Amino acid sequence: MTRWFDVASVDELSPGSCRVVDLDGMAVAVFHIGNKYYAIADVCPHDGGDLASGELVGEEIICPRHGARFSIRTGAVLAPPAYENLRTFPVRVAEDKVQIEAE
Ligand code: FES
Repeated sequence: MTRWFDVASVDELSPGSCRVVDLDGMAVAVFHIGNKYYAIADVCPHDGGDLASGELVGEEIICPRHGARFSIRTGAVLAPPAYENLRTFPVRVAEDKVQIEAE
């Protein structure tokens, strides 16, 4: 059965903002970009950088440690030194809460 995990209220996650939550011991960064929400694992596969504190350029995040780039929309790695894609999570809004799927 699908389990949905509350991230924030819609009001708390304004456009351009990000919130990091602990999902069963895994850090997940949830972004509000344009009128959409995206959720990615908040751990750079290169060497564990905290992606949510990196620079956001459009729909891409730049790892603050060594500059790898990732698509927030798809999790795809776009520039080295990382070579693995990020895990992404389904996001929905239900009763004014932003939620991610926790499997
Ligand atoms: S830890 Fe992210 S690029 Fe090195």
